[in-house]
Amino acid sequence: MKSIFLTGGTGFLGKALLEAIESDFDQIFLLSRRSEFDPSIVSLKSRYPKLILIKGDLSDPNLVAIADQLKEVTQALHLGGLYDFKASDSENFSTNITGTHNFLALCGALPNLERIGFASSVAVAGDFNGVFNEDMFNVGQKFSDSYAFSKFRAEGLIGGFEFPGEKVFFRYGVLVGDSRTGRVDKVDGPYYMIEALLGLKKKIRLIKYGLVTPLPFDEKGIIHMIPVDVSAQATAAVLRSEAHKGVSRNYHIVGRPLATKELIVRILRFVGLSENTYALKKGFLSKSILKRFHIPDSLLHYLYVRTRFDYSQFSRDFPEIVFPTFDQYEKAFFSVFDTREESK
Ligand SMILES: NC(=O)c1ccc[n+]([C@@H]2O[C@H](COP(=O)([O-])OP(=O)(O)OC[C@H]3O[C@@H](n4cnc5c(N)ncnc54)[C@H](OP(=O)(O)O)[C@@H]3O)[C@@H](O)[C@H]2O)c1
Repeated sequence: MKSIFLTGGTGFLGKALLEAIESDFDQIFLLSRRSEFDPSIVSLKSRYPKLILIKGDLSDPNLVAIADQLKEVTQALHLGGLYDFKASDSENFSTNITGTHNFLALCGALPNLERIGFASSVAVAGDFNGVFNEDMFNVGQKFSDSYAFSKFRAEGLIGGFEFPGEKVFFRYGVLVGDSRTGRVDKVDGPYYMIEALLGLKKKIRLIKYGLVTPLPFDEKGIIHMIPVDVSAQATAAVLRSEAHKGVSRNYHIVGRPLATKELIVRILRFVGLSENTYALKKGFLSKSILKRFHIPDSLLHYLYVRTRFDYSQFSRDFPEIVFPTFDQYEKAFFSVFDTREESK
């Protein structure tokens, strides 16, 4: 019987992953803080009858107590975490660092566990500038936000955990809506900018005819966005694979690199503002613009990232998964806002 234990299965990535792995496992044990009567759990259980809810909290130091229910599990995938740029440092640390520590204590008590998977992020590269390969980790980078630091520390904890099986680190790029439907759970990352510019256009109609729209980003910046369904398929391919048994690996599930300026121009075009944009240097003015747009400060760093995330190891091991270009999912990406605008 094939059994997997999943944290974060109720989240944005987790729900897409459930769809992708449903036929690969006989039992899917799902950790959630929610009760079995919570509408999202009711809906997931009716859609995926193999789901078994394990109620629990990653920040509970006694998480290991649920080990008795997970004796047959051979894979444990830790997607659960706090991904919210408005969260405080202590919230990030308690969910992402202490939560990972508790997850590992639990893994240590699972007698049949062969593989530990962890949802990390390209944010672990911090302020590194250049090409970040999949086998790179601690290169002396510094962090400007506690989310990125908490993912870095969590990777470090898992890396140092003594375990006879294999560990797989999935470093995701910015997860965006489903490549077919555009579906997202919440507005964050690049969607903040679209929402802000739609609001701005309503307030200052004249800007449409203005010559230049100054915005905070780096002229040479690069963003790695990947639709959530593609990330889920890539993750599922790894979980399903027996080809690299016993070998620990890092994979960059990042999507194709896109120039930040190109994304900004496409957003301006979609919103109907002048596409003639001017890149504001990182500093007081760029920070004030984010503040005015109600975009969290901590996102500023990501508008100035020039790092390219190499994914050649993933492409070599899983050539059947090809990351789409932005052109291929652009329509779905913006469709979330088309429907919102129509309903206003
Ligand atoms: N979204 C992105 O762009 C992105 C990019 C790179 C990496 N990642 C990583 O991918 C993972 C999933 O992200 P996501 O966007 O799917 O997040 P999300 O939609 O915010 O979902 C978070 C998930 O974590 C669970 N969780 C949070 N705190 C928990 C706690 N204390 N105890 C138990 N479960 C807890 C939630 O479960 P319940 O609410 O049901 O308890 C939920 O299933 C995260 O580790 C994130 O760091 C995300």
